[in-house]
Amino acid sequence: MKKIKMLTGDRPTGKLHIGHYFGSLQTRVKMQDEYDCHVMIADVQALTDNFNNPEKVRKNVYEVLLDYLSVGIDPKKTTIFLQSMIPEIAELTVFYSNLVTIARLQRNPTVKTEIAQKKELFGESVTYGFLGYPVSQAGDITAFEGEVVPVGEDQLPLIEQCREIVRKFNSIYGETLVEPRAILSSNKRIKGLDGNEKMGKSLGNAIYLSDTDEEISKKVMGALTDPNRIKKDDLGNPDICMVAYYHNLFSKDEVKKICEECKAGKRGCVACKKQLIENIIKALTPIREKRKYYEQRPEELRQILMDGTQRAREQAKETMKKVKKAMKLDY
Ligand code: TRP
Ligand code: SF4
Repeated sequence: MKKIKMLTGDRPTGKLHIGHYFGSLQTRVKMQDEYDCHVMIADVQALTDNFNNPEKVRKNVYEVLLDYLSVGIDPKKTTIFLQSMIPEIAELTVFYSNLVTIARLQRNPTVKTEIAQKKELFGESVTYGFLGYPVSQAGDITAFEGEVVPVGEDQLPLIEQCREIVRKFNSIYGETLVEPRAILSSNKRIKGLDGNEKMGKSLGNAIYLSDTDEEISKKVMGALTDPNRIKKDDLGNPDICMVAYYHNLFSKDEVKKICEECKAGKRGCVACKKQLIENIIKALTPIREKRKYYEQRPEELRQILMDGTQRAREQAKETMKKVKKAMKLDY
């Protein structure tokens, strides 16, 4: 039986954190056996809003690759590859750009939000490349005939835009491209240590998969707790405490007792944090050990990326043949 093709990816703009772990990475690891999985490091897309900082993108290609391998994305099961080494994606982007209007791109809610957030980079006028990244992302997905695309909620408008491009292409040039469908990789977004809805580098509220014991301790010690609780026997409210929130993720067996003790004023916040630190470190230890293994073997790491990219390229070439034939460009 042929496995369903899955494609997804990340922009290499920073190390991955535990929000990614519970959000997308665990889903990918779980999907590896059942699906034909493709995970792309989207360095070309990362340049759309980091064109002035190529060193940052290059450095993070390896950071993200290390994060993937350390959480158990297995290069024997999942094709891990680098976007910039697949020129067919760029070619598809050019072809698809005829099938989408500027107004439609400007209406894309994700693109709209991102442009508003990037005023510092773009000023009053956004680049052609950034406005058009949904077109290029349609190239990413269709080049590998991706059928399912696990993404976070913010990416749904991009998958919808890809579906429109596919339908338009197929209606003009004949049934050629596979229409993908999004699956939400997690229904829950992990909040930051400060209680912010989003965990992120710019907010300084994230625990990274590669953080040291000291970094984890420092961050958890500074996490937001019930602000009304001053003395140990004050009755606490774990619902407004980020430490309790993280115990939910890392201390599954103990969390019920922890919350009860907190509510009854029978638990000190410092001890509570120390217990969390211990459990986070316990959970991240095997991940960090795997990371260290690959960090010490840069040649093996590079080879994994090159092998995956070569495999991906073969598939993209097949798609390109079909596309060129449909568009009467098969000279
Ligand atoms: N836009 C995605 C993000 O910012 C990354 C990405 C690039 C992607 N190409 C993709 C995701 C193709 C899914 C499919 O997270
Ligand atoms: Fe939060 Fe624990 Fe303090 Fe309760 S005891 S407020 S759960 S840190």
